[in-house]
Amino acid sequence: MPETMRAVRQHSFGGPEVLKIEEVPRPEPLWTEVLVRVHAAGVNPVDCKTRAGGGILSTQGPLPFTIGWDVSGEVVAIGSGVTRFAVGDEVYGMVNFPRSGAGYAEYVTADSRQLVRKPEVLSHQEAAGVPLVALTAWQSLVSVGRTGPGTRVLVHGAAGGLGHIAVQIARARGAWVCGTAGTAQQDLVRQLGADEVYDYTKVRFEELAHDIDVVVDTVAGDNGLRSLRTMRPGGVLVSLPVPPDEQTLAEAARLGLRAVSLTVEGDRTDLEDITALIEAGAIKPIIAEVLPLERADKAHELIETGQAKGKVVLKVIG
Ligand SMILES: NC(=O)c1ccc[n+]([C@@H]2O[C@H](COP(=O)([O-])OP(=O)(O)OC[C@H]3O[C@@H](n4cnc5c(N)ncnc54)[C@H](OP(=O)(O)O)[C@@H]3O)[C@@H](O)[C@H]2O)c1
Repeated sequence: MPETMRAVRQHSFGGPEVLKIEEVPRPEPLWTEVLVRVHAAGVNPVDCKTRAGGGILSTQGPLPFTIGWDVSGEVVAIGSGVTRFAVGDEVYGMVNFPRSGAGYAEYVTADSRQLVRKPEVLSHQEAAGVPLVALTAWQSLVSVGRTGPGTRVLVHGAAGGLGHIAVQIARARGAWVCGTAGTAQQDLVRQLGADEVYDYTKVRFEELAHDIDVVVDTVAGDNGLRSLRTMRPGGVLVSLPVPPDEQTLAEAARLGLRAVSLTVEGDRTDLEDITALIEAGAIKPIIAEVLPLERADKAHELIETGQAKGKVVLKVIG
């Protein structure tokens, strides 16, 4: 195995241009860790925010560092004590979050229990687009929202990286689902399984949606407050980009609703449940663009337009 590897690093904060490919030492797995040869790394908005000096910067340690948390690849070495995997296993997961992820690289080390077997029905590039958004959607809808048959769900940004997976999970849990999306995405969101789609450029969703139990808000702004008007008592609003503001919290309490903030956790058992749905054909990630590792800058530009149709992925092998 080579002693060094290619990794995307940054020596300063700023625009996508601070992301540079460099030759760095290959990491070694510690006890309970595996070394993964990364085939593909998923790109998420939190990567862009952290690169620019926001996001989860406070947990990243000193510059220079490598961002990226979603990976799919092959186990090439195991540390002492690892029982779940052997060399050659194909795995995927959200690694080391919220610590330094170092996923935009040819190799990454992670606690073996943060990874699960890659679904056979997905390529590495498709699988790399799944963990962070699917875990967030699962934890919003299932862990917090207790979504099941009879639940009425509203997903904002239903065509986005997170939203398109949330719609599919809600549907697979037997819920009635509606979502907001732009004009060009209306058909797509219906095809994902939404019962109703509201074009946020043309209508006020709060005048159409009603009796909602769980709102997954990927948009923020006044979306959370407006969503409360669509909900029935006992419902929960999960605010993902930022925590609900004071006004939203007070209004939720007045209406007998909950408004909560959620940060995704790298829970392996949740990812196993998600994997089962993928293997059953109930969830299929949409990959908007695959770019080579050295074009991480372009991948970030694309995410920052807010217009990517699905997930953006970096191809490391293949
Ligand atoms: N708390 C957490 O742990 C957590 C985890 C994951 C993500 N997040 C956050 O969630 C947000 C979304 O992530 P993502 O990966 O889904 O981003 P994304 O792939 O960029 O998707 C954003 C989507 O929002 C849609 N949109 C923009 N304005 C809208 C509006 N006013 N109403 C409805 N939809 C609108 C866009 O849809 P159109 O193309 O239809 O315009 C776009 O598809 C980010 O801020 C991210 O950081 C938080």
